[in-house]
Amino acid sequence: MITTTQLEPIETASLDELQALQTARMKWTLKHAYDNVPMYRRKFDAAGVHPDDFRELQDIRLFPCTTKQDLRDNYPFDTFAVPMEQVVRIHASSGTTGKPTVVGYTRNDIDTWASIVARSLRAAGGSPKDKIHVAYGYGLFTGGLGAHYGAERLGATVIPMSGGQTEKQAQLIRDFHPDMIMVTPSYCLNLIEELERQMGGDASGCSLRVGVFGAEPWTAAMRNEIERRLGITALDIYGLSEVMGPGVAMECIETADGPTIWEDHFYPEIVDPQSGAARADGDHGELLITTLTKEALPVIRYRTRDLTRLLPASARSMRRMDRITGRSDDMLIIRGVNVFPSQLEEEICKFQHLAPHYQLEVRRKGHLDTLSIKVELKESGLALSHDERCDICHGLRHRIKSMVGISTDVSIVNCGSIPRSEGKAQRVFDLRNVVNQ
Ligand code: DLL
Repeated sequence: MITTTQLEPIETASLDELQALQTARMKWTLKHAYDNVPMYRRKFDAAGVHPDDFRELQDIRLFPCTTKQDLRDNYPFDTFAVPMEQVVRIHASSGTTGKPTVVGYTRNDIDTWASIVARSLRAAGGSPKDKIHVAYGYGLFTGGLGAHYGAERLGATVIPMSGGQTEKQAQLIRDFHPDMIMVTPSYCLNLIEELERQMGGDASGCSLRVGVFGAEPWTAAMRNEIERRLGITALDIYGLSEVMGPGVAMECIETADGPTIWEDHFYPEIVDPQSGAARADGDHGELLITTLTKEALPVIRYRTRDLTRLLPASARSMRRMDRITGRSDDMLIIRGVNVFPSQLEEEICKFQHLAPHYQLEVRRKGHLDTLSIKVELKESGLALSHDERCDICHGLRHRIKSMVGISTDVSIVNCGSIPRSEGKAQRVFDLRNVVNQ
């Protein structure tokens, strides 16, 4: 159990102290963004606001929101507030047009991120004595490297496994005896199945004590299942690339009552997802975040599209967020990978005999999300043999796996079988909540 002496002073500061720090940092951020990023200067000018108009925290509502589209419009680097020679790392998250949202970090940003993830791991009961198995993907995705640097900063022994190679992962968990695991909840269930296979049907005796789960929505039922089958405490970590990566908020082990938002670095607000009007603490809506310390990519009132509510402080002085109930846009998260329907459409359109008429079905089989794509043949493909159709299915599956990073089930149907839209096309059928619940 953590004692308060191990916490950073700000974690137990008074509300006055916290708000004074937030106010000073917010002032710096607004000026930094306005002075160095043309996009922010244009947006503030258009809204008739200037950083000098910010005097107290609630003045942040005067400033315009930032959307994912704003970042895309300035692809790849025009959102950066520092010269490129000060940017030491790039990460990216997938995007609708195939172009990712690009994020950059200065050396200080990487340092801050590492210390916030270390703080998060400490909140999960972690210490330098622990071995931490990182099964979030390493690469442009922020999960792997974000977790890695934080675990190292904590002083723990990091096992940088990344995702995949499930049989080997399970074997190494049995051999290396890690104390903690950082992984998406759905992939963890996959791992549990493999561990159970290797351990004669029961994985609850493995060395793991705590799991730090995030990057995709998960239910309380899934938490119970993971805790029971792995014999661990399962905690929720929240974050998004545009704001930093994992560690924007973390659930504390002593209360396990929703992630505490590290408000000394991230200022949260809740708004109505349609109108953008402010909502009070406790009310559900879309989460907005303003970064308070980021140098390379400050984000002002970033519309996360994540739906949640703010809850009062409990284990720390900072407010908590409720479990995310969903997103206000159409992004699908399949086994921790963000997927937009238009990314799949792009791949479909590359096949000569395939029409851009398709349907996506997301289901939950056991505990894993599966994505089925039903796509129509063009008239030109009607004469294709069974084997030729199989080749197209295989080719599309392969392209999606390599370009988007997910496994899919592809089936080809004759032209005219997919209902045509009479307005907005309904292409996504998310049956995860219908099946199994
Ligand atoms: O998923 C960062 C991350 C990595 C967080 C590892 C936690 C652990 P993105 O790929 O940009 O970044 O995706 C961000 O994932 O807007 C949410 O919709 C969703 N998400 C992240 N954490 C949670 C969570 C990373 N704990 C998007 N619960 C966010 C539910 C989550 N959804």
